[in-house]
Amino acid sequence: MQKIYITRKIPESGLNLLKEKGYEVIVNPDDKVLTGEELVSVLSGQNYDAVLCLLTDKINDSVFEAVGSKCKIFANYAVGYDNIDLMAAKSRGIVITNTPDVLTETVAEHTVALMLAISHRVAEADKFVKEGKYYGWEPMLLLGSDFSHKTVGIIGLGRIGSRVAYHAYNGFNAKIIYYDIKKNENFEKEFNAEYKENIDDLLKEADFVSLHVPLLSSTRHLINKDRLALMNPTAYLINTSRGPIIDEEALVFALQNKIIKGAALDVFENEPNLTPGLAQLSNVILTPHIASATEATREKMSLLAAQNIVAVLEGMEPLNPVK
Ligand code: DGY
Repeated sequence: MQKIYITRKIPESGLNLLKEKGYEVIVNPDDKVLTGEELVSVLSGQNYDAVLCLLTDKINDSVFEAVGSKCKIFANYAVGYDNIDLMAAKSRGIVITNTPDVLTETVAEHTVALMLAISHRVAEADKFVKEGKYYGWEPMLLLGSDFSHKTVGIIGLGRIGSRVAYHAYNGFNAKIIYYDIKKNENFEKEFNAEYKENIDDLLKEADFVSLHVPLLSSTRHLINKDRLALMNPTAYLINTSRGPIIDEEALVFALQNKIIKGAALDVFENEPNLTPGLAQLSNVILTPHIASATEATREKMSLLAAQNIVAVLEGMEPLNPVK
């Protein structure tokens, strides 16, 4: 019987598929992230045929070495795969897959929710009321900024970035500007969008900057002290991609010194730890990497990761290979 290891409890749909296919499925019984050493230890000598892993698992060559040559695939339960050493996987002939598409809409919705929440000061207002500070309507209480008709700058025009543009344009009449390594004329026509040839030009113009790039060595600290200084003092920065895209220390400085108006982050540079000062700021909204976390979407991610495993173990092409 073929054996599959799952590094942490995930929604049922994927587990059910793997069990229906007759595989032996072993799920990490402790609902916690395994350290590198723990991963090596649980995988060693077990002859697993496949591993379903999470973005919190650091999958490097020691892990591939530990799992052994019988293992054909590591299916990542995420669209991002910066947690995996792709070169090492390739050199060992291990297939890597991810879970694109199924989470696009949910992450785009969360991004728009953050844009609205930060500009309308929703978290601050909620805290204010719950702390018993509300004594009646006031003309000057917690004044925020409108989102409609503003300029939304999308950095990284992949699936999620495009969908954020769709909602901002169709729902809020936003002006869309974007930066990507590729210019997309169809997108420009559909959303009356303007391409910026460099990030700096986008930052100077946008009221809301939304990050949608993968984490690569070239995108680490893409938003740094100098780039934050280019943004408008009335602008907001939104990040639902990966934390290290922003130099978080520089962001704390920019928020403390009103260099930008606010930020809304779902991801952090040293997750789950926060840069000192970040959590004390009122002009920031922080959510715990939950942009894809709806029940329906997490079930779809679970199923898709399992379908990738089934395909590979049945000798077919995976649905979502990462190269
Ligand atoms: C991903 O899939 O990469 C998200 O960050 C988590 O769902």
